[in-house]
Amino acid sequence: MKGHVETPAALAEHMTRHLFEGRLPEKGDRILYPGCGRAPFAAAVEKVCSEIGRPLPEGHAVEMNPELLEDAQGRGLSHVTFHQLDFLSPEVDRLGKFDYVIGNPPYVAIEGLDEEEKRRYRSRYHTASGRMDLYFLFFEQGVDLLTSGGRLSFITPEKWTYVESARDLRRLFASDDLHLEEIVHVPEDAFEGLITYPSITTVSRSPAGRTTVKRRDGTVHTSEIATGAESWASAIRDADLSHMNTGITLDDISVRISAGVATGRDRIFVRSADEVSSDLRPDWTYPTVSGKELKQHGSPQSGSVFICAYREDGTLVDEDDLGAFGDWAIQHRDELEKRSCVKNGKRWYSWHENPPMQDILRPKILFRDVTQEPEFWADYTGNIVPRHTVYYLVPAEGVDLDALMNYLQSLEAREWMEAHCQRAANGYMRLQSRVLKKLPVPEELVPEYQGSLALSG
Ligand SMILES: C[S@@+](CC[C@H](N)C(=O)[O-])C[C@H]1O[C@@H](n2cnc3c(N)ncnc32)[C@H](O)[C@@H]1O
Repeated sequence: MKGHVETPAALAEHMTRHLFEGRLPEKGDRILYPGCGRAPFAAAVEKVCSEIGRPLPEGHAVEMNPELLEDAQGRGLSHVTFHQLDFLSPEVDRLGKFDYVIGNPPYVAIEGLDEEEKRRYRSRYHTASGRMDLYFLFFEQGVDLLTSGGRLSFITPEKWTYVESARDLRRLFASDDLHLEEIVHVPEDAFEGLITYPSITTVSRSPAGRTTVKRRDGTVHTSEIATGAESWASAIRDADLSHMNTGITLDDISVRISAGVATGRDRIFVRSADEVSSDLRPDWTYPTVSGKELKQHGSPQSGSVFICAYREDGTLVDEDDLGAFGDWAIQHRDELEKRSCVKNGKRWYSWHENPPMQDILRPKILFRDVTQEPEFWADYTGNIVPRHTVYYLVPAEGVDLDALMNYLQSLEAREWMEAHCQRAANGYMRLQSRVLKKLPVPEELVPEYQGSLALSG
């Protein structure tokens, strides 16, 4: 059953009352139920109309799944004609336009679609770009079927307001002839944990205007949110994930979150471990990894080393004591002296920046600065000196590295990063340290908290 998640009757009724607010059904109105499943919304409409004494609209329900359709037809609903159809197919156009559209569309990410479906949807829907989800397409088709002044209300995950793959959906909602009236963040347990961060979106085919956002913490704000295709996170986000706020941030439990070291000449200082002579290897090298290697190897063990004259305390060895390093480096002296840092007074064999070795040479977490999705790797040995394209996070004394890794890879932390990190080209995101430092962390990760648990236990 593609994307079937049943809407509880109380939620369907709540959405129905809301759909009719300020726009009560009139004789001759028409209502559409896309992906109707067992028809909880049609049942809610019959109940609400009877309670408020309004005429039932002419209802049409579209569902692909024959078993669900049979169940829906067996409910004895008086105002609905059922259609076994793909809601995203052109055949739906013959159903005409609607004053109301209400539903809970399927949430099916691109991985759940076959090649033929992807091709078909991509040729018909603007919103079917990149890593689309079926509910983007349901939104597009749904608003397309609205009469002038008609209103649509869907419950979906709220991610479309900021993820890169929903750019075209945000652009659609920012059109002059659509009014994104409201986004209501629904408690997470509305679907017994099946959807992360559900929200109800109400949009009407009427001149664009301001949007009211009702947040989970009960606060309400109204502003210009539907401004264009860029993420709306900054307009909405503060409250989106506000339940994560513990008052403790990643910065509070880290000694350092920084970009790896810049030498000014990686092509000289970085070598494959196999090609480094045995007299250099033991004392003058550290394993290293670049952002590209992290991805390629899927591990920080890249086989590359930095040839390095810095001691473990971060001090640079004197020129007289360079030994095997000096014999090797002298061959590259001309090239190394061309670096701007040398012109600015640094030793010819130093690096562009002094590496904070005391921090770097500790167990830590590595990640790429520009990435398609957040990914983290643990350096348990603590002996890797990351290159400039790799960020490293050194946890504070007593923070459990594995627990922190688990948290950074959790759905919740990823949602936060998606909502807060800047976008690079091609949908890539930038995991900048200044942003990540603000990531709220659960108090279980704080050493004092772990200590107090041990005491109370
Ligand atoms: C999230 S469920 C919601 C079902 C129902 N509206 C409810 O609220 O309980 C989405 C429904 O859409 C149906 N569906 C998925 N893709 C469809 C399509 N292309 N056309 C019509 N229905 C579809 C599924 O079978 C499923 O019943």
